[in-house]
Amino acid sequence: MSITAVIGIQWGDEGKAKIVDVLSEDADYVVRFQGGANAGHTVVAPAGKFIFHLIPTGILHPHTTCVIGNGVVFDPEAFFAELDSLEKKHISTEGRLFVSDRCHIVMPYHRAADAGEEELKDGLSIGTTRRGIGPTYAEKARRRHAIRMSDLMDGAAFPDHLKKAIDGENRAAKTRQKGETFDHGKILKQFENYRERLKPHVKDTVPLLRDAVAAGKRMLLEGAQGVMLDVDFGTYPFVTSSNTSIGGAATGTGIPPRKIDRVIGVSKAYATRVGEGPFPTELSGELGKRLLEVGGEYGSTTGRARRCGWIDLVALRYAIHLADADEIALTKMDVLSGLDKIQVCVAYEIGGSKVTEFPASASVLAKAKPVYETLPGWTENIGGIENTRDLPAAAREFIAYLESALSTPIGLISVGAGREALFSNRRETGGRSGRRG
Ligand code: IMP
Repeated sequence: MSITAVIGIQWGDEGKAKIVDVLSEDADYVVRFQGGANAGHTVVAPAGKFIFHLIPTGILHPHTTCVIGNGVVFDPEAFFAELDSLEKKHISTEGRLFVSDRCHIVMPYHRAADAGEEELKDGLSIGTTRRGIGPTYAEKARRRHAIRMSDLMDGAAFPDHLKKAIDGENRAAKTRQKGETFDHGKILKQFENYRERLKPHVKDTVPLLRDAVAAGKRMLLEGAQGVMLDVDFGTYPFVTSSNTSIGGAATGTGIPPRKIDRVIGVSKAYATRVGEGPFPTELSGELGKRLLEVGGEYGSTTGRARRCGWIDLVALRYAIHLADADEIALTKMDVLSGLDKIQVCVAYEIGGSKVTEFPASASVLAKAKPVYETLPGWTENIGGIENTRDLPAAAREFIAYLESALSTPIGLISVGAGREALFSNRRETGGRSGRRG
């Protein structure tokens, strides 16, 4: 492994963190490149269960250097909460956790704006995580009073920079429903405290990563959310505000795209999404509830129940292309155990026509009726299984079907939450864990 990106190829929550966690054993650097504290990356490690929102999952492996890249919108409160919980578990971040000085900072007014917009009940709700992600990225693109980490680090210029930003926000607040305004002095004090604690972590990560690449360091680029939530390619406007597809891994780190030599696309054996937006294979009824409960499909950031449905190959083919995935890690396969049949969406029917290209328009997608093929299910509990050949025949058939229909190999299979419940699907070696070789 030299530079590997791990990208979600559904609507997020595919189980990327577990893949990154296992692959981190063989990585020198683990880098987050987009999103912010909207992510909820759950890892079940020997030291306990961890949910990371901002800090790269690789931090659990003491030999790694972890980087929050420039493409991430940085929420200091979320960062410190994670630092505290790591410290409590005696996991040291000293000298091995860096934050790009180009990161944009999620400010209290961004969080307030996100929640305010969601509460407007104007029919435009996206069902965001209310972590201020959209307003921070919007401000980044608008370039009026954005605050980057380098601004916060400039002690002399920061008060005035913050004042201009808050004055602008307060002017805009007058036009907002709740009209909440913000106090410069209070926020300044809060952020001056943040600065001191952030100082050892903030760095120009462009040369750091450039030199690491040049030195042949092994790197994992850890995606958040998934391709179907990409601001350009996802089910717009029901998307997040960043590029979750492979392009984001380059723009969010400064690592040139041609240096990335392997991409693992992560997909569940079924599909879920949280928040609003069309979801053609959504199962309402008992089956949807079963996937929700057996899969424990509750958001790790917001606790919301996820919408569940069958795996969607139209969306996956599209996402595999946009992630440039060389292989797939198929997660939560154990959740399908006990179903007498499994359905796989192979096309959509839209307005009487069969469609196999993923549509741009959310309103067109909302009309899509899934065209299914039905595969046999299996009754056996596959939770403890350690290699492909020990899976029930129907489970092996399901894997082979997906590989052929998606023209992409399934390299890794996950059948449970822990590190041990992951094995390579490479037939010649069979066995346990994503470790290569
Ligand atoms: P935002 O990213 O908080 O603005 O939310 C926009 C959309 O992305 C909403 O539908 C969220 O539920 C969804 N979303 C954001 N982060 C995640 C994630 O980590 N997993 C799954 N969905 C997410």
